[in-house]
Amino acid sequence: MARKIIIDTDPGQDDAAAILLALAAPDDLEVLAITAVAGNVPLSLTTVNSLKMVELAGRPEVPVYAGCDRPMVRPLITAEYVHGKTGLDGADLPDPVTSLAPGHAVDRIIELVMSHEPGSITLCPLGPLTNIGTALAKAPEIAPRLAEIVLMGGGFFEGGNTTPAAEFNIYVDPQAADLVFRCGAPLTVMPLDVTHRALMLPRHLDRFAQMGTRLGTAVHGMLAFYERYDVEKYGMEGGPLHDPCVIAYLLRPDLFGGRQVNVAVEVESELTMGMTVVDWWGMTSRPRNARWMGSIDADGFFDLLVDRLSRL
Ligand code: RIB
Ligand code: CA
Repeated sequence: MARKIIIDTDPGQDDAAAILLALAAPDDLEVLAITAVAGNVPLSLTTVNSLKMVELAGRPEVPVYAGCDRPMVRPLITAEYVHGKTGLDGADLPDPVTSLAPGHAVDRIIELVMSHEPGSITLCPLGPLTNIGTALAKAPEIAPRLAEIVLMGGGFFEGGNTTPAAEFNIYVDPQAADLVFRCGAPLTVMPLDVTHRALMLPRHLDRFAQMGTRLGTAVHGMLAFYERYDVEKYGMEGGPLHDPCVIAYLLRPDLFGGRQVNVAVEVESELTMGMTVVDWWGMTSRPRNARWMGSIDADGFFDLLVDRLSRL
């Protein structure tokens, strides 16, 4: 029985690769909906980019919903400096012909969770947590009905990538993230601590081009564009492939290692706004609300990604 998931996303090239990976695994994952949120680029683009991905994957029947166009409290910040002005720079994809599904993403998330058996839906947030936080604020009763939330966000031993203390997804909407980390649903986190070990080395990147398909060429172009920012900033051998870690975990949890800890989100201090404070050594009595991933079999991860994407 395929696992039912909702992908909440702000594509973004790494989101795009994650969406394609999920759509390439229909026997394992049933994507009930893709819900777009403002983040890497404005909502007007994350919706279009999500539609481009369902079409590139040959899965136009997967519904895409527009969600929140700004964070719950703070002003929106975007990341065109990483992703380019379209959010998918590096790939020349046609404008989508598929329309957005009617209704707001937040309402659709609530409807889907409340209409399915408790414990049957996993939320997979890949961007700022605005849609998820808003859904939890509007209908807190969804939290105990969730099988799990598996999200990309945060950083602790790796620090931040947007401020010295905060990772982008959490920094953009810390209030929403605070609601998610406090909601009580089973939570698995793919922070920078693990995604900075999923580096796209040239040998990995070349495999997408060698697929010899339109999709492989598009993925190669997107990821080659996207990685340049982190390579230049961190001096890494390759760019970290953040969001596909979420989907890879659903498919092959054995590729990852982590620890059940307390994670709290800073929402007061501007100095550390959006910081994910991880009680790694169990120094407080705060509840161990999250499984915080820190290790990955990177070769196994890229083998999975290339193998699955080559099936589309
Ligand atoms: O910090 C990395 C995260 O922020 C990724 O999800 C990337 O797509 C951006 O949303
Ligand atoms: Ca993202």
